[in-house]
Amino acid sequence: MVQVNGNYLKLKAGYLFPEIARRVKAFSEANPEAQVIRLGIGDVTEPLPEACRTAMKAAIDEMGTREGFHGYGPEQGYPWLREAIARHDFQSRGCEVSAEEIFISDGSKCDSSNILDILGEGNRIAVTDPVYPVYVDSNVMAGRTGEADGSGRYGGLTYLPITAANGFTAEIPSSKVDLIYLCFPNNPTGAVASREQLKAWVDYARASGALILFDAAYEAFIQDPGLPHSIYEIEGARECAIEFRSFSKNAGFTGTRCALTVVPRGLMGTAADGGTVELWGLWNRRQCTKFNGVSYIVQRGAEAVYSSEGQSQVKALIAFYMENAAIIRRELSAAGIEVYGGEQAPYVWLKTPDGLDSWGFFDHLLQRAHVVGTPGGGFGAAGEGYFRLSAFNSRANVEEAMRRVRAL
Ligand code: MLT
Repeated sequence: MVQVNGNYLKLKAGYLFPEIARRVKAFSEANPEAQVIRLGIGDVTEPLPEACRTAMKAAIDEMGTREGFHGYGPEQGYPWLREAIARHDFQSRGCEVSAEEIFISDGSKCDSSNILDILGEGNRIAVTDPVYPVYVDSNVMAGRTGEADGSGRYGGLTYLPITAANGFTAEIPSSKVDLIYLCFPNNPTGAVASREQLKAWVDYARASGALILFDAAYEAFIQDPGLPHSIYEIEGARECAIEFRSFSKNAGFTGTRCALTVVPRGLMGTAADGGTVELWGLWNRRQCTKFNGVSYIVQRGAEAVYSSEGQSQVKALIAFYMENAAIIRRELSAAGIEVYGGEQAPYVWLKTPDGLDSWGFFDHLLQRAHVVGTPGGGFGAAGEGYFRLSAFNSRANVEEAMRRVRAL
């Protein structure tokens, strides 16, 4: 018989969100009359912006003509989209990022896992705890960790606890690490990093030769104009960081799929013979071999995000979800629950009440209020005792969910 990848057998339980979906399905089958409101997975609910839809429809019509038909596109993405992103998302904020350094993809989840293809096996890896589970599980699958212990922590990984005591921002590790996953605005805690905090990470990475994998999928939700949106706003970050971004949450592309990864030219790694190698070339090679690009139609839709109509429609979507987050924060606080996040991010992170553990609170909320959230323990041992509510839903559902929580 064929041998399986034994690393998969080290994975604890199922992936968090399918596990939640399984429990919700079982509950709904047993209670068919219950109107379940889902504030669990961070999946958007509002329609695609009109500017994106118009551009995608025009692209479909183009594809229906001999002259306008597009077959395989460039594996790195179409130049017009890469240029629009470089200009609007980076250069407008003073970041030195060129179109050539932007690789279009079908998702930050995929890119933040696939990046391991170009990184060596001996790297010491640091993740926050709690953490977006993909960073950990993809390292387990790639054989970069040992076995999990009783708390679900894998051998070989350095866990950096993020708690109320440190404002949900990890402290610089005391032991040497080579690869650091940072996510700001943070999933799951909704915390955000100041310029000084990011500078401390960049300084550490430059001084120690580490690489930062910076997930900025939620940057569009930052409300405070003084906060950085990109790691490249910090001097020296081009020498030590790769950044992931997505159209999923700002423009509602979770089902449409479009994202990007920035790999700066001149960002170097070490080869086994001690020589240095540019990561850009390796990622380009990886994408050319394993990826055939995002569809022309979807890339035209993403480009429309940068038109003036697209910009105002995306801003309105974000304002809508952030108002949901404000309602969740306000109602939970009024119910006497300790809340964090939700001010610069679409996630509200709360302390589970009445000493319930986080899966216990999940079951309580599902059974008593028919509301689904995400147990903090599912994001890591230090997330135990916390719970995440997502602001991605209709206003009516958010208000109804909060009414039910208040009534508990
Ligand atoms: C989440 O709920 O954490 C998100 O849906 C994660 C993702 O975008 O993959």
